[in-house]
Amino acid sequence: MSRLWVRFLLPLVLILATVAYATGPLVERLTMAWFRRDLDIRAQVIGASLEASLAGDDAAGKERVEGIFNRVTRDERLYGVALCDERGRVLYASTLFPAEADCRAEPAQQASAQGKLLELPNGPFHVATRDFETESRRPRRIVLVHDMSFATRRSSDSRHYFILVFVGIGLVVALLTMIVAQLSFRGWIEGLRSMIRRRSLLDLDGFRATPELRPVLREFRRALRQLEEEQRSRDESRVEWTPASIRDVLREEFSGEQVLVVSNREPYIHERRDGGIEVRKPASGLVSALEPVMRACSGTWIAHGSGSADREVVDADDRIAVPPEKATYQLRRVWLTPEEEEGYYYGFSNEGLWPLCHIAHTRPIFRSADWERYVQANRRFADAVVEEARRDDPVVLVQDYHFALLPKMIRERLPNATILTFWHIPWPNAESFGICPWRQEILDGLLGSTIMGFHTPHHVNNFLETVDRYMESRIDRESNVVSLQGNLTAVRHYPISIEWPPRLMDTIPGVRECAAEFRRRHGIGAGVRIGIGVDRLDYTKGIEERLWAIERLFELYPEWIGHFTFVQIAAPTRAKIDSYRNFGEDVTRLADRINARFGREGYVPIVLLKQHHEPPEVYRGFRAADLCLVTSLHDGMNLVAKEFIAARDDEQGVLILSLFAGASRELPEALLVNPYDFDQCARALHAALSMSPEERRARMRSLRAVVRDFNVFRWAGRMVLDAAMVRRRSRVLKHVRNWDFLERLPVAP
Ligand code: F6P
Repeated sequence: MSRLWVRFLLPLVLILATVAYATGPLVERLTMAWFRRDLDIRAQVIGASLEASLAGDDAAGKERVEGIFNRVTRDERLYGVALCDERGRVLYASTLFPAEADCRAEPAQQASAQGKLLELPNGPFHVATRDFETESRRPRRIVLVHDMSFATRRSSDSRHYFILVFVGIGLVVALLTMIVAQLSFRGWIEGLRSMIRRRSLLDLDGFRATPELRPVLREFRRALRQLEEEQRSRDESRVEWTPASIRDVLREEFSGEQVLVVSNREPYIHERRDGGIEVRKPASGLVSALEPVMRACSGTWIAHGSGSADREVVDADDRIAVPPEKATYQLRRVWLTPEEEEGYYYGFSNEGLWPLCHIAHTRPIFRSADWERYVQANRRFADAVVEEARRDDPVVLVQDYHFALLPKMIRERLPNATILTFWHIPWPNAESFGICPWRQEILDGLLGSTIMGFHTPHHVNNFLETVDRYMESRIDRESNVVSLQGNLTAVRHYPISIEWPPRLMDTIPGVRECAAEFRRRHGIGAGVRIGIGVDRLDYTKGIEERLWAIERLFELYPEWIGHFTFVQIAAPTRAKIDSYRNFGEDVTRLADRINARFGREGYVPIVLLKQHHEPPEVYRGFRAADLCLVTSLHDGMNLVAKEFIAARDDEQGVLILSLFAGASRELPEALLVNPYDFDQCARALHAALSMSPEERRARMRSLRAVVRDFNVFRWAGRMVLDAAMVRRRSRVLKHVRNWDFLERLPVAP
């Protein structure tokens, strides 16, 4: 308020006073002119009334005339009166009639004529004359002298009143202006605030701004678009994404900030076997994608320690440096009790959320006891994140459906963290998701993220519709940003991928050697074409469907019987769950039945390998095969498809890919199939086996270009760039919310 007084009110009062002071003499002149006119009229009126009494004989009436004059001059303003003859001599005069007011002045021509001003030591006087003739026709003149000191007094009084009234009015106007300005300023600020809070600044196009806010709105919109375009062009300008690019982006955007990854599955599992300890890499798309990224940014990976020898190899803080061959980052293990693992991992995650999100016709099971364990396990991981965070604003990459509650838990304890959550599996439509009894808690937890990532735009839309249906939040559809209780979450699609070029390829022999060794190992004859499938033994992967398709191939194209063998690598997974156990048994039965029907001495149509294979073995299999079958019934992305492509540097091999895997959006040069349509799949198998080497090369070349350009470093890099943008934007918004800058603005109406 004091600043307001100094900057606005004081200058205003000074200006008003100066103006009033400068106009004072004018006011004085005006009032004097009014008084003179007034006295002119008055003098003529008094003169006229005296004229009647003086029309008689002068000499006889001296006493009487002077008596009249003295009576008349009792009026405080009329100072003196005199009667003069035609030669200008005073015949009679009132007592105080000043000698200086002589009778010889020019006679006034008319009754309203202006009197003269006479300045005497005792003040200013107004001298007016009136000429007339006596009854005996002698010219006479009445001289009336009015004291004007009252007029000067009053005109200077009016001058002071005028200044006071002027300043007073000025002050009232100023105060009113200030009040109105303050009110509209507040309204303006409120408008801006609601523009930011209610519509989150990201829905600016939909925001209906008041006229005075429009220029500000335009500016904000321009600044935000510029920010986004800058980021986008940074992604597009990088033709190649490599481990070095990720390191650069992290250094530039999050200079020296800490990167923490949280996933359920750990990248290295230590198992006790035959008296020793073995390190195993799990069959997990998530691990294949993230591991190269972590090697590049050397942070800390927090995961469930699930291996039988995991505890034996960690330090006192449950950490171990990995990869074993050349440590570049830390693995922090979190321990879960068997009950927690049962409820959180097998129960809520894999009997509830997994079938809920995959439309694979296995009914989800939701038990409240599992939910409690899920909440508990999420808390345990949140504790680990807080323990590992060396600063209050780490970059945390939360992975998958095991940790739907974790983003919010982290946000509550590390409000400045940048949380990138990636959902590796599909997100179903709102109606399907709605059957989950804890749908709100899950959405609320996920919306603690800075960025929520999915593989495809379709999953992004499903997620936004689910949020729209079940949460009291605001969604900006243009930028796909959700605002929930002041927290902004950008929902984006980032197709996950693999490392390019895969490090593994340096150690894998050539295609011929791989094929020869593979044939030898699995007893596949020289003239027999090979198909391969590599999956976890999971009912969403469409393993039964692909076996039925192979059976149909033999029915529709019997020429392939004896000339085509399909090798299915099926890594056992989640075997404690009934549906998985039953599924594994069903697959074995089906493979046995087909083998019994079409197999013969020295020829096995289906080779089913129900065991874990380390990545090098898998890559050898890919290089040995003529075709790879990926027939997921529903899949977030499916990295097996991309790994097969990466393994084929000979530009041969055909990929048959399910339309229901996210990868199909990026890889149209594959033979795309509906895995439920066995005839179609059989025809695709036949086409792949009959395809010319030129066509195989053309397709594979194009597929390899996609996987090379859209590799996992681009996946992570884009997320990090977007996170940096959201982080910068949040900082801008935080400043705007505080309104510091508005306080510093000059207060102007
Ligand atoms: O890719 C989906 C995914 O669930 C990963 O998140 C997970 O690591 C992988 O499949 C394997 O599943 P699990 O970790 O349960 O063996």
